[in-house]
Amino acid sequence: MLFKQLFENESSTYTYLISCQEKQEAILIDPVLETLERDLSIIKKLNLKLKYAIDTHVHADHVTSASALREILGCKVAGPAKDYLKCRDVNFKDNDELAIGNTVKLKAIYTPGHTNTHFSYTINHRDVKFLFSGDALLINACGRTDFQSGSSKKLYNTIKNIFYKMPENTIVFPGHDYNKNNFSTILEQKKANTLIDDSISVEKFIDNMKKLKLDKPKKIDVAVPKNMDCGN
Ligand SMILES: [Fe+2]
Repeated sequence: MLFKQLFENESSTYTYLISCQEKQEAILIDPVLETLERDLSIIKKLNLKLKYAIDTHVHADHVTSASALREILGCKVAGPAKDYLKCRDVNFKDNDELAIGNTVKLKAIYTPGHTNTHFSYTINHRDVKFLFSGDALLINACGRTDFQSGSSKKLYNTIKNIFYKMPENTIVFPGHDYNKNNFSTILEQKKANTLIDDSISVEKFIDNMKKLKLDKPKKIDVAVPKNMDCGN
């Protein structure tokens, strides 16, 4: 399996490139329109066939390049079925699996809270689980829950009852990081996540989230409608 973590500076978004090296077939998770040219050139340089552009959710802070990638490379566009987007080719339900070539398998998991239709993805590689946690679990933080039908109670359940029950050596690859962290582990987050460690109560978490007082994302009024059309 080839794996590459890519970063977009303006929205601090991580995009993930994963491929099966036997068949040279690849996916991108959460590709960003601003970095389309970079992603195209990496795919070309590595001689990969992009099969799917996959989003974790309808982003509010950047526009997905899923549609553009489909137009240029002929890949399919995938994401959560609960978004009900006509522009997608593949609509994941909870626990759906997607083969990438013949050596990599991605599993889709319903992980609401940041938005009500948010999905995360896992890939088991050798003995290690890779968790692409989108904006549900970030490193020493988590996604906000104050718009797009977000719910702190649901996010608490997602993190405590889905993510924190995964093997402790699971590697967490988030959708964003604002502090130059690349990845973490479930063990580290259970011990050290200041918003939601393993011992926190739901009441305290809801209170933590209320106190965040974050600014409205700059691009939300443009990004959400565009992303509802897969970035067109
Ligand atoms: Fe988000």
